[in-house]
Amino acid sequence: MKYDLCDPKNSRYCCDNVQTNTSDSGLDVVRGLSHHPKTLPSYYFYDQRGSELFEQICGLPEYYPTRTEQGILAAYAQEIANLTGKCDLVELGSGSSRKTRILLDAYTRLQGKFTYIPIDVSTTMLQATALDLLADYPQLSIHALAGVYEIALHHLPPALEQRLLIFLGSTIGNLSPQEEVIFLQQIEQSLSVGDYFLLGVDLQKDITTLTSAYNDSQRITAEFNLNILHHLNYKFNGNFNPENFEHWAFYNQELHQIEMHLISLENQVVKLCDLDLEITLMARETIRTEISRKFELTALTKQLDHYGLPVQKIWQDERGWFALVLCQKQ
Ligand code: AVJ
Repeated sequence: MKYDLCDPKNSRYCCDNVQTNTSDSGLDVVRGLSHHPKTLPSYYFYDQRGSELFEQICGLPEYYPTRTEQGILAAYAQEIANLTGKCDLVELGSGSSRKTRILLDAYTRLQGKFTYIPIDVSTTMLQATALDLLADYPQLSIHALAGVYEIALHHLPPALEQRLLIFLGSTIGNLSPQEEVIFLQQIEQSLSVGDYFLLGVDLQKDITTLTSAYNDSQRITAEFNLNILHHLNYKFNGNFNPENFEHWAFYNQELHQIEMHLISLENQVVKLCDLDLEITLMARETIRTEISRKFELTALTKQLDHYGLPVQKIWQDERGWFALVLCQKQ
């Protein structure tokens, strides 16, 4: 299903809703909760409340990725823009576009009018952000896409310029290795030869720093994790009681990934009525809600090269905690 939110009075802005029946039908939820161990797709975090909580997480003292990536962008955005030359910008998981503003500033200095295509599952966040950006960037046209990125990548407006596709925040780390392969193939296919791909990745580092980032003392991450149950209740007419669950995040050293789970505090049966789904949980059984993989640059570079996205340049912070990787489709 696709309906158009374009406002004919505003020629600089339009928003296409590209949710489809498959992602809206909750089949992925049914599949994840029928698995053993139980899992949920991480994008269900991002309803309006979840997106707000994530914004709060980005400001937490323990959550280093956002401010580290922002620092790298602040130092090198102009170099990135000069390197790619004139581009339209496409962003996966744009959220508040706060870090993206640094790139928008750099590209504004480089070129006159250009187009920004933000893609996000949170429609409210997407539209509120777009309106702010239109006011702040008079040269900018925005063509927003509301939906999951697999679908949205198939609905990109025709390319008039060379493109820079940006995927910040190490969100690629939320994909399993198998999902990452499919994702990179999709990226490669949706770009033209010479287009760029800018990827933000969180790097392997000491376990205390990693673990603290997902176990903040204000317990915002715990609230963010539990909020996924509210979202499922709302979306699929369910009766999860978040009080019967507890946040758990740890670093899996073999797989180099943070795992976030919700631990069931008792034996319980939960219903998601609209999905005709009854979920039986034992006490201490967990639902894994997210993996957040931590990368190593040699292996990542090899992987990107292998999928037709050879690395042109890498920028890092002084501590080597986070990296921005610029690839160019061959
Ligand atoms: C920025 C979406 C990739 O994995 O670190 C933050 C999400 N989860 N705290 C991450 C998140 C828990 C985040 N992403």
